[in-house]
Amino acid sequence: MTLSAAEVNKLKLAPAAEGVLPVVLNRWSPRSFSSREVSPADLRRVFEAARWAASAYNEQPWRYIVGTRNSLTYKKIFSSLIGFNQSWAGSASVLILGVTSTKYSHNGTTNTYAVHDLGAASSYLTLQASALGLFTHQMAGFDQDVVRKAFGIPADYAFGSVIALGYQGEPDALGNEQLIALETEPRERKALKDFVLSAWDTAAELG
Ligand SMILES: Cc1cc2nc3c(=O)[nH]c(=O)nc-3n(C[C@H](O)[C@H](O)[C@H](O)COP(=O)(O)O)c2cc1C
Repeated sequence: MTLSAAEVNKLKLAPAAEGVLPVVLNRWSPRSFSSREVSPADLRRVFEAARWAASAYNEQPWRYIVGTRNSLTYKKIFSSLIGFNQSWAGSASVLILGVTSTKYSHNGTTNTYAVHDLGAASSYLTLQASALGLFTHQMAGFDQDVVRKAFGIPADYAFGSVIALGYQGEPDALGNEQLIALETEPRERKALKDFVLSAWDTAAELG
């Protein structure tokens, strides 16, 4: 029998690490979203959080194209998704396309941190969503040429992810064994010793 949405939400919770922000532990990426709409006030809040991310030269290179369900913007973003992502992302209330300016506005040189800074802003967005009881699922599986054309995005803007945003849905609603299995499997991460180092081949000593 498939787990309920509430049971999955518990299963996906990161193990308690004392002092770590609850939103960080709570956030995970569902593929089943409910039909409940995201309120305009909450939508504003997630972008307000993204707004306050740090960026190189305070360039704030990120731009977000946001489409709510049934809008033309939503349809354009959805139609750029690869088949696998189309098989589930259409249940999300909102689809957001992350775009970033690769030129510094103060001198026109290349901003090699443009995608980095978009990613940072998007992380803030996902954590704010989590704090509001919302869920996000980022996707790299979309056709950049399709959205560039559909929205007339200039060549000096690069892409980050498409973000599905909404409320969690029941795993069963995915209606497909493979998706239900992914939805109900525990989350995994590398150990700290595998990526926090004091030399290239040595794990850092942490308290
Ligand atoms: C930049 C980026 C691209 C991703 N692309 C896809 C995607 O195209 N399709 C998908 O189903 N999940 C995608 N994911 C979701 C990841 O697989 C997921 O975040 C990862 O497995 C960790 O799970 P969690 O977010 O639940 O902690 C993407 C995530 C990120 C951050």
